[in-house]
Amino acid sequence: MDLNNKKFYVTTPIYYVTAKPHLGSLYSTVLADVVSRWNKIKGSKTFFLTGTDEHGQKVATAAEKAKKKPKEFVDGFIDSYKSVWRDYEIEYDYFIRTTDSNHVKIVQKWLSDLQSSGDIYKDFYRGWYCYSCESFEKDFDEGDKVGPTCEQCERNTELVAEECYFFRLSKYQDKLLKFFKENPDFVVPKERMSEIVNFVKSGLKDLSISRTKVSWGVPFPGDKKHVAYVWADALNNYITAIGYGHSAKKKDFDFWWPADLHIMGKDIFRFHAVYWPAFLLASGLSLPKRLLVHGWITVDKKKMSKSFGNMIDPQMLREVYGAEPVRYYLLRQIAINQDGDFRIEDLEQRISSDLANDLGNLLNRMVSLAEKNSAMIIDPIASWSSESTKLRDESLNLLSDFQTYMSDYQFHMALACLWKFINKVNAFFHSQEPWKLAKCDRDAFLQVLAATANSLKIVAVLLWPVMPKKMEKLLSSLGLSFKIDKNLVEDLSLGNWNQKFILQKIETLFAKPEENKVVEPTKKKEVKKEASDFIKIDDFAKVHLVVGTIEQAEDVSDSNKLLKLQVNCGKYGNRQVFAGIKKFYSIDDLIGKQGVFVVNLKPRKIMGQESQGMMLFAEGEDKMLQMTTVSAVVPNGTRLR
Ligand code: MSP
Repeated sequence: MDLNNKKFYVTTPIYYVTAKPHLGSLYSTVLADVVSRWNKIKGSKTFFLTGTDEHGQKVATAAEKAKKKPKEFVDGFIDSYKSVWRDYEIEYDYFIRTTDSNHVKIVQKWLSDLQSSGDIYKDFYRGWYCYSCESFEKDFDEGDKVGPTCEQCERNTELVAEECYFFRLSKYQDKLLKFFKENPDFVVPKERMSEIVNFVKSGLKDLSISRTKVSWGVPFPGDKKHVAYVWADALNNYITAIGYGHSAKKKDFDFWWPADLHIMGKDIFRFHAVYWPAFLLASGLSLPKRLLVHGWITVDKKKMSKSFGNMIDPQMLREVYGAEPVRYYLLRQIAINQDGDFRIEDLEQRISSDLANDLGNLLNRMVSLAEKNSAMIIDPIASWSSESTKLRDESLNLLSDFQTYMSDYQFHMALACLWKFINKVNAFFHSQEPWKLAKCDRDAFLQVLAATANSLKIVAVLLWPVMPKKMEKLLSSLGLSFKIDKNLVEDLSLGNWNQKFILQKIETLFAKPEENKVVEPTKKKEVKKEASDFIKIDDFAKVHLVVGTIEQAEDVSDSNKLLKLQVNCGKYGNRQVFAGIKKFYSIDDLIGKQGVFVVNLKPRKIMGQESQGMMLFAEGEDKMLQMTTVSAVVPNGTRLR
């Protein structure tokens, strides 16, 4: 494969190991996996790093609570991380632990180097610290009685007063601002850039970079009283994992560094956008190319976290819905720049509607029809109909739009336009009526199958980063095997629909969720499958919406709102309907018009007379009522479905 030495190095944050991973931790990791796989199919060599952040007060306190030694405590969680990642098809290249001896050694070397260069010096620190976020929130000012609450988690901060080593962050203020100016695309989403520029402009103070009151950490070289501040230790994982500081691994390091993308939640953006670039500048290293900052997964609008006790266990979700549908849901449902409230109903809806109906059924209908008509082998088509050519053109538009959204990490938009295309393929298949063509025009029939199969192939390749195993299955049903032997996206963009397909029946690709399966969240708080905002199709069918013609209208003189209408509802009879529209419509505006009426509402008395239906209106922003109607005249009594 000609890779042109194209490379892509992507990282997740490393997770504090105070509990098993929850859906929020999975989210960052799935995003990184999708980015890594996307770059793979675009012909890049990729390196995907994830791991665990195991030092610091937060972990030490959790270990103490569990009556365990810190190392024994963190060791106990590693399997749960690795197994969730494995079960969710997370294809990482390296799993770093900050307790790895290599990492510890290199962090120590880094500290010594910066001491030698003068960027780290010893002094005394007094300030307010958030133990939960492991962040220095504010320096102590004379007269401070209490500290501020933490900007991120809003917990109380505690006063820390100790001798410590400082990193000369202030020295890098101008260099950082220059870098931000020269690299306006450094941060995705773009809107976050100004947040960080303003933070740096407001003035950077030197950063305390060691602790004496904490013993669980990387020992400071040459000064046993101190351990490295956990963020100075953790951020360096991005370089220690790929060989920084080892002469034997220099080539590897030079190949992979700088990172192409660091992914993180909005709570730890500042550490990555300010401290990390400053550390790198101090070490004479290039800065990462981009940061992707995502919102939080919330439950009832509260961040999913151990402290709120509202964690959703990814393993439980997987057992009920399958790993890949959950991956799809996370990418499709949640816009990267926003928080996304987790709702079982949304997940189920995505699976039933997008995956089972739109995609799974399309494949199934095509293969079943081919099987019924002995057309499981589809040779390349010599000449395409105009409808098929139109579909192929649509696929080229899709490929272009999809790439644009993916290069901006707008996953939900990329998937939305992919689904638009799937629905176009469905419409094509349906409108061509291949089940009729099978009986009278075999060439045309095979051509419809071929156009559908070619479209499904594109869908499968583009969706592979999100649902790899499912899409490999889909491809196998088309008689194709998934192989990355070239830039697959570029190849599809050539629009060569000259593929031979050997169709195979496979088991249902996506099962609809079973009714009443409940995913229990953690103990503290239950997120049950409550009365849903969705109604079933049967519920909708209970409402009889019917088109009727207004044959007469008259003023109700005792009311300043009401008009009385006589409506011809065809087989539903003539109805007398009162509507509160006097302010909006004159009698002449109404007579002869067709509107939409609910005809099975229980009749009710209005101004002493019976109203036998309800007319539908849309209320605009200006509070004006707009009549609901149909775009062409239809027989009175036509049902809306
Ligand atoms: N250890 C630090 C990161 C160091 S990186 C050099 C840390 N760990 S964490 O476990 O608290 O968070 C890890 C990542 O998970 C962060 O990006 C955080 O935003 C993300 N998430 C934690 N809870 C989350 C949600 N509820 N929703 C989405 N992401 C969440 O910070």
